[in-house]
Amino acid sequence: MEGIIKKYREFLPIKDDSKIITLNEGNTPLIRTSRLRDYINRGIDLYLKYEGLNPSGSFKDRGMTVAISKALEEGSKAVICASTGNTSASAAAYAAKGGLKAYVLIPKGKIALGKLSQAMMHGAVVIQLDGNFDEALKIVRDVSGKRPITMVNSLNPYRIEGQKTAAFEICDQLGSVPTFHSLPVGNAGNITAYWKGFKEYKSCGRISSLPKMIGFQAEGAAPIVRGKIIKAPETVATAIRIGNPASWKQAEAARDESGGTIDMVSDEEIINAYQLIARYEGIFCEPASAASVAGVIKLNKEGYFKKGDSIVCTLTGHGLKDPESAIKISGEPITLPPEVDKILEILEL
Ligand code: F0G
Repeated sequence: MEGIIKKYREFLPIKDDSKIITLNEGNTPLIRTSRLRDYINRGIDLYLKYEGLNPSGSFKDRGMTVAISKALEEGSKAVICASTGNTSASAAAYAAKGGLKAYVLIPKGKIALGKLSQAMMHGAVVIQLDGNFDEALKIVRDVSGKRPITMVNSLNPYRIEGQKTAAFEICDQLGSVPTFHSLPVGNAGNITAYWKGFKEYKSCGRISSLPKMIGFQAEGAAPIVRGKIIKAPETVATAIRIGNPASWKQAEAARDESGGTIDMVSDEEIINAYQLIARYEGIFCEPASAASVAGVIKLNKEGYFKKGDSIVCTLTGHGLKDPESAIKISGEPITLPPEVDKILEILEL
């Protein structure tokens, strides 16, 4: 199937087929863990939804195919977004495919290198701000009200519409509904979208129960957990370095309606999970994505899960987005002269 619009057409507000812009996003693997599950708790069933395998390397593509298609349907010529990196990469790619001009505002020095390279390669106008994501988003909201330009942040409802299809896919792949669904929370659009998706699938009878939504912010960027705006958010997980999420209220609603929780994890817990996912499951995700697994590890220690619970963690972005973080925590490679004996010495076999 070509992309999420064709696959889930009846759930999406697309009117004009000729304006559909797709890069064949979606249909990402839902991977059942073994070694990671054994490490955390042998009594649970743990799955990873590997959204890093979308065309631009993150879940944003699901929302962007709908947002860009609708922008074209509505006659827009240009799009704009604020971003911690992935939204800018995705917007730039889909705008390129659709022949639209893209402007992206990013916090200077605080986005992973891979994401910056994507936005630049796809020809977006990249504007770096001496400020954070929250400040960039405020400017984008102002500017899009003053000029004929479509905002493609998740405040654009079509982004949420597209992203909800990940919830559909998980139910289709699993053949059932997980007990818990775990996500990293930044601007809080994705947890809002998943919850909408699960609820819609239930109301049309495709599933008969709903998962509990569990979301995780980074400790230095945890406005929802702390109940107040964080003016200077900080975390190694730059994708979720956000102090005033646009969908704050909707994230709380997802938490409360589902009977789940929104908690926080430290940078150390994020990095630990990031490494475990790579080393136990062979899956490379970016640090922010690992917050979903870090959160499960944290809650498991508190006895939150029961035997037989199934948990799906969304791995929101690909590890290659942020090679600098990976290299930084992995230490130096071994350097040797090109001699067999030297290699044999280090084989430990
Ligand atoms: N994980 C990754 C890899 C992200 O890029 C983001 C958000 C999130 C999780 C959180 O999702 O914002 O819907 O709660 N990235 C946005 C961006 C903010 O600009 O790329 P959210």
